[in-house]
Amino acid sequence: MNYTILNLKELPVELLPRLAEIHMGDRGLLSKLGYPFVLRYFEIAYKDPRVIGVFAQDNNSGEVVGYGIASPEPESLTSQLTNDKSWFIRQIIKLFFTRPLVFIQLIISSITIKGQMNEVGAIECVYFSVDPKFRGQKIGRTIQKALMDESRKLGYKKMLASIETWNKASLSATLSNGFTIAKTFREGQYHRHRMESKL
Ligand SMILES: CC(C)(COP(=O)(O)OP(=O)(O)OC[C@H]1O[C@@H](n2cnc3c(N)ncnc32)[C@H](O)[C@@H]1OP(=O)(O)O)[C@@H](O)C(=O)NCCC(=O)NCCS
Repeated sequence: MNYTILNLKELPVELLPRLAEIHMGDRGLLSKLGYPFVLRYFEIAYKDPRVIGVFAQDNNSGEVVGYGIASPEPESLTSQLTNDKSWFIRQIIKLFFTRPLVFIQLIISSITIKGQMNEVGAIECVYFSVDPKFRGQKIGRTIQKALMDESRKLGYKKMLASIETWNKASLSATLSNGFTIAKTFREGQYHRHRMESKL
């Protein structure tokens, strides 16, 4: 497939639901919180000037097939989910009653992320995802590489990432892009590698 990697700033705002839809194919905590959280997260990331984002677009159909985002302060993105208090409280109450285990995991992850403050000059590869129909064609690896290149251009010296230990595709892509495993840790139900690469 022929595709082009573009900067997230070039994505028309009406295509944000497409990014959220692709993200729902991820098995991480954000997608478990549900689509309204995912869409709100992408709206926040899209507006945040410190976020470095890219997306892959099929040259023939124009379809968005994958994306990646990086941030020097990922916890500031999640904390902005609480900006609209009444929306957030409604979503959290719904989550508590419909998916209590996800609610507990959210609390555990919020605490763990706070203890993982980024170093000066470092940026986190927060998410990268490819539509399941287009996986296995090196698009994910290329997206992550594009995030690294863009971050280097902007002066960042190091990229960090947390990858679940079962996630072979993500792990292979990240290792191929030159990351190494700094440590392996548990975060509630998740078992993750903390990865890092010089830029
Ligand atoms: C992780 C993800 C983005 C990879 O994208 P992709 O385009 O399918 O992957 P690529 O084709 O670039 O392959 C990357 C590497 O993974 C390997 N790989 C791909 N699919 C694999 C699979 N199902 N099982 C094992 N290895 C796999 C490839 O061989 C390649 O290895 P190499 O770099 O050593 O050659 C994609 O699987 C995805 O969207 N997963 C769900 C979201 C997610 O988990 N994101 C990462 C965490 S935030």
